[in-house]
Amino acid sequence: MNKIYLWGFIVTAAMLGFTYVSVLGTKGGLNDDIVNTLTIAAAAALVLITVFVVIKYVRQMQVDTASGELADEKWDDIGEYLNPIPTGWGILFLLTMAWGTWYFLVGYPINAYSQIGEYNEDVAAHNAKFEARYASITGDRLIDMGESVYLAECKICHGLSADGIDGTAANLNVRLEANVVKHAVVNGSNNKLMGSGVAMPGRKDLYNTNTESLISDADIDVVSEYVANGMTGPGADVFAGACATCHGADGKGMPFVAPNIATYDQELVVTILNHGKKGVIGSMPVFDRLNTKQKEAVGAYITSLSK
Ligand code: HEC
Ligand code: HEC
Repeated sequence: MNKIYLWGFIVTAAMLGFTYVSVLGTKGGLNDDIVNTLTIAAAAALVLITVFVVIKYVRQMQVDTASGELADEKWDDIGEYLNPIPTGWGILFLLTMAWGTWYFLVGYPINAYSQIGEYNEDVAAHNAKFEARYASITGDRLIDMGESVYLAECKICHGLSADGIDGTAANLNVRLEANVVKHAVVNGSNNKLMGSGVAMPGRKDLYNTNTESLISDADIDVVSEYVANGMTGPGADVFAGACATCHGADGKGMPFVAPNIATYDQELVVTILNHGKKGVIGSMPVFDRLNTKQKEAVGAYITSLSK
């Protein structure tokens, strides 16, 4: 008998021995358990097939001789057979190239797992839960929630008492201070306060110089104090003449035309949180990280401060 077959039987016996020890040896035999019996039978079949398929190819390597047509070229005296590429192999190669290109350019970038993506989904899911849970709160509870948001997110610039910390940020205890109004009238305002691009042209923009023909410096000072004082005191006539067409006689604004400059309202604060604001005081950041309910709540809180 060829030596290789002898080795085949030895290896088979050894592997079956290992299988027996590892599957059954410690559990006390087959025990009439059909699953154990099937396991051992399948293992035996696998071992036998593996060993004898290996033997077949080892034999073939021992007895095969090379045949076929050699190419003309030799590389360091080593020749090469002229084998045409098998069609199936060729097709598979091209398909793999096409798939690889697709995967590299489209498949991976679009379908890949992304930690940032998972984070964003988690945040969105959490926000949805949060909003569903607190959807119905109004009044004082909403203001309380707004105060918490304010203390966590806004206090750092606007201060514990919302006074703006000596001009670091806007004083939120009043709707507007005189210098802010004056700046807006002279330089205009383009902060998406209406949520859209409607802007207020400044006196400067209209005439390209600080001409007094539209509204005089003195009138600007008077009307700024009037607005800053909560629409009271001298200046009502200037306001009625120069501002009321857009901001309304009471300064509470008009939809699509001009914002409320008499009082805060929830919507205005939410719009400012969504778009940020740049003005004479400085720059107020956009607050994307707050969810809708939190924005509403802090809006209610700010509105409650100046009432
Ligand atoms: C043509 C219409 C129009 C007129 C007239 C007008 N405004 Fe405005 N005003 C606007 C619009 C629109 C905005 C919002 C611009 C923005 O998004 O920043 C605005 C914004 C403002 C702001 C900024 C509010 C803030 O929160 O910073 C102030 C202050 C203001 N106006 C005061 C006045 C005063 C005072 C007058 C009269 C002298 C006046 N406006 C006349 C349309 C007008
Ligand atoms: C990084 C500092 C900073 C933080 C944080 C900040 N703000 Fe502001 N905020 C400002 C500045 C500066 C202004 C004034 C912008 C200007 O010059 O008109 C402002 C203006 C505002 C205004 C507009 C007042 C007006 O003139 O109409 C509101 C409302 C406001 N902030 C609310 C908030 C709320 C609510 C938060 C927290 C969610 C917050 N801010 C957080 C800096 C900040």
